[in-house]
Amino acid sequence: MAAKPLVIANWKMNPSTWRDAKRLLDATKKAAERAPSQSVVVCPPSIYLRDLRAAYKGKWLAYGVQHAHFNPSGAHTGETSLAQAKDSGASYVIVGHAERRELGESNDDTRKKVAAALALKMTPVLCVGERERASGGEHFGIVKDQLRAAFSDVAPGQVTRVIVVYEPLWTIGKDAAMSPRDMHEMGIFIRKTIVDFPTRIGAPADPKAREAAMKLRILYGGSVTDKNAADMLRLGDVQGFLVGGASQEAARMANLLQAIENAT
Ligand code: PGA
Repeated sequence: MAAKPLVIANWKMNPSTWRDAKRLLDATKKAAERAPSQSVVVCPPSIYLRDLRAAYKGKWLAYGVQHAHFNPSGAHTGETSLAQAKDSGASYVIVGHAERRELGESNDDTRKKVAAALALKMTPVLCVGERERASGGEHFGIVKDQLRAAFSDVAPGQVTRVIVVYEPLWTIGKDAAMSPRDMHEMGIFIRKTIVDFPTRIGAPADPKAREAAMKLRILYGGSVTDKNAADMLRLGDVQGFLVGGASQEAARMANLLQAIENAT
């Protein structure tokens, strides 16, 4: 696939101070400059976003938020809307992250968020994946349901504006990622599910649906490091990564981007 690998840094609820956030941003930008074959997106805590973007706005980094509300405004104490996130400089939004799903984000919420993000010309980064894996293949059904729900308000021509991340909860924050072979299998399944959508995306035989599914960008997330990224890119048929822990330390992020650069 011709597109540059996309690396999305999910800082989660880190770092604890603005000073450290600015330092991490500076280091991430330097690392991104040395890795020109990739596109890097930083998703900081929303409260840092506007100031970080004011500190650096250029071609090496884009910005996203880790979560935002689909309603444009209203009585939602503690929430930030997608429109507010966009106004603060976010062009990407993570939707349905496993840690948000654990807090109650439903498939129907992901549907509303994906549609609202597209309407605002933002890029939804839709996370799918099972909580735990049993041997009976149930995870495929879970991922299919998550995809069907999240894409159900997406018009056929907009399918490729969504980025799909396969990030099962059981691989997040662990010592090792899942195997590239398993990711490859899941990538095929995700594309096939998109082709097979009966309604919005078109009939199964519709060549447009097939084209959209083939062009869809699929990322992997879950314990991505400089040690496993190259193999995953080569063998897992992914077009990039959603990175948590390794993106939150300057040296680890620099090593990761270098490892991907060497593999690209
Ligand atoms: P991790 O987190 O890289 O620390 O496993 C990934 C994520 O939750 O997005």
